[in-house]
Amino acid sequence: MVSTDKRFQALEAYMEEINYDPSMLINVLHRAQQLFLWLPKDVLEFISEKLKVPKSKVMGVVSFYNFFSTKPVGRIQIKVCLGTACYVKGGDRVMERFLEELGLQEEGQVTPDGMFSVHAVRCVGACSMAPVVLIGESDFYGRMSPDKVPRIVKKYKRLAEQMKEGES
Ligand code: FES
Repeated sequence: MVSTDKRFQALEAYMEEINYDPSMLINVLHRAQQLFLWLPKDVLEFISEKLKVPKSKVMGVVSFYNFFSTKPVGRIQIKVCLGTACYVKGGDRVMERFLEELGLQEEGQVTPDGMFSVHAVRCVGACSMAPVVLIGESDFYGRMSPDKVPRIVKKYKRLAEQMKEGES
């Protein structure tokens, strides 16, 4: 329900702060993605209605920028670089190992508890540390190898448990 979901309330409070200015659409979408982690259809409709911007324009902006996601993502996102330098140093095997450890079939899927998803990304500008992996907001792992993956996954699974416990 839109009205009882605190995230919608927080999003509306943000739009109110900026006086529902339609020229701030990108900022609003960023805020929405921070709150929801991705941009579900009902959120986009809510934004379109509140800012009085046609849905087609909202969708156009969302699909133009690749940092906006219209597909569900995990609360902890694992981004494996598959740019050239990382790929030649085994980034694809690192990716496979993350998928295996998390029981995922393919990149972009979310674990059943909604906590993890694994994504391929292009060069993140740290080729000298290839292959590299980014986890969550700011954790960086360089010179990765498939055998380092289980320990890292274990660490984040513990974190995921703490996040769940903190909410119950
Ligand atoms: S190719 Fe991965 S950091 Fe550049």
